[in-house]
Amino acid sequence: MSIQIPRGTQDILPGQVEIWQYIENKARDISRRYQYSEIRTPLFEHTELFLRGVGDTTDIVQKEMYTFQDRGGRDLTLRPEGTAGVVRSYVENKMFGLPNQPVKLFYISQMFRYERPQAGRYRQFVQFGVEALGSSDPAMDAEVISLAMNLYKEMGLKSIKLVINSLGDKESRLSHREALIDHFSPRIGEFCSDCQSRLEKNPMRILDCKKDRDHELMKTAPSILEYLNDESAAYFEKLKKYLTDIGVEYTVDSGLVRGLDYYNHTAFEIMSEAEGFGAITTLCGGGRYNGLVEDLGGPETPGIGFGMSIERLISALAAENVELPISRSLDCYFVALGEEAKDYTVKLVQSLRDAGFSADRDYQDRKVKAQFKAADRLNSTFVAVLGDDELKENKISVKNMETGEQTAVGLDTFVQEFKRLQE
Ligand code: HAM
Repeated sequence: MSIQIPRGTQDILPGQVEIWQYIENKARDISRRYQYSEIRTPLFEHTELFLRGVGDTTDIVQKEMYTFQDRGGRDLTLRPEGTAGVVRSYVENKMFGLPNQPVKLFYISQMFRYERPQAGRYRQFVQFGVEALGSSDPAMDAEVISLAMNLYKEMGLKSIKLVINSLGDKESRLSHREALIDHFSPRIGEFCSDCQSRLEKNPMRILDCKKDRDHELMKTAPSILEYLNDESAAYFEKLKKYLTDIGVEYTVDSGLVRGLDYYNHTAFEIMSEAEGFGAITTLCGGGRYNGLVEDLGGPETPGIGFGMSIERLISALAAENVELPISRSLDCYFVALGEEAKDYTVKLVQSLRDAGFSADRDYQDRKVKAQFKAADRLNSTFVAVLGDDELKENKISVKNMETGEQTAVGLDTFVQEFKRLQE
């Protein structure tokens, strides 16, 4: 049997890859406008980083990591998300000492999670993510959220919805935690074993449980927003004001808890509301993670960021029938009639490529008609036809496929004359 692609992964073939490149370029461009610089960290890290960074009660750490030992016996994990690695690098490279603060970074990177594959959920996927480290101004939160929202809007998506919540600071979370324990304890036996072990370790995780999400206690669980202390409530109010000021619409959902442990204050998700967009509607998730830098050995540093899957963005574009302005272009295709002419096009095609044009010729010894067909399929702007007769006259015939105009061009001055035909 022939070997097949691993479950939950995909090949991105020519024809699709142009869509990826278009999105990546858009993401780079918007990052530049918002002044975020690219960072590239390793695909694998010490497993310990994710245990400490993502949190050992999360699904990601408990069930979804690709963990292995290398030949030296080191415990390593393919990164399931980008934040932990970026923060590790921030600490290791002492970026907190850089003159320009906050440090604003972005990445477009493969992530790996051993999840049950379905539409929109893969075992290898690509996140465009940003991390802003060193500011606890709620305007920073508004900037990060608006960057994500603007990318979707500039791509042409219309049916998207931003949901925000505040998870508060440590003090607020502690009092919410007590309330959750009081709420769930009497009937914790009705919940799954994961939730039972979460009760003491991290009761907020229960709210994110996929198995027990319809249990009646879920609907009546105490809301974090009622437990925010004054400072946290004021922070959240400021964020909402800034979002309104810059015209970013949002909905508050006190049930939004996110699947990673490092969040506090702002948490947000962006969903697709397009009809026919599968069961998984979350396009982007992010939030504030004050405290993570310290947990990973750095100085006290606030941070906020998001991650969005490119795969899901592409699905959302398809669901909304957005046509991207992508054209595969070929400047010139050479059609040769006769042996000598065929040999000569080897030089010609090279001369155009050297001059910066895209050019191609036949490599399959095809008949003239088939060569014209190939030029057509490749959507070539010009087709240059060289026969042995033309060769004798030191000329080549160049046809503009859009206008139908045909020009006889001297072989010795071919590149200069081809350039002139572009004008
Ligand atoms: P996350 O919510 O785990 O957060 O993932 C963020 C996004 O990654 C999701 O909204 C989704 O678009 C995409 N994603 C996650 N799992 C999959 C999957 N199996 N297949 C396809 N796409 C997936 C994080 O990863 C945080 N690091 C985000 C963040 C950055 N928070 C602060 N800074």
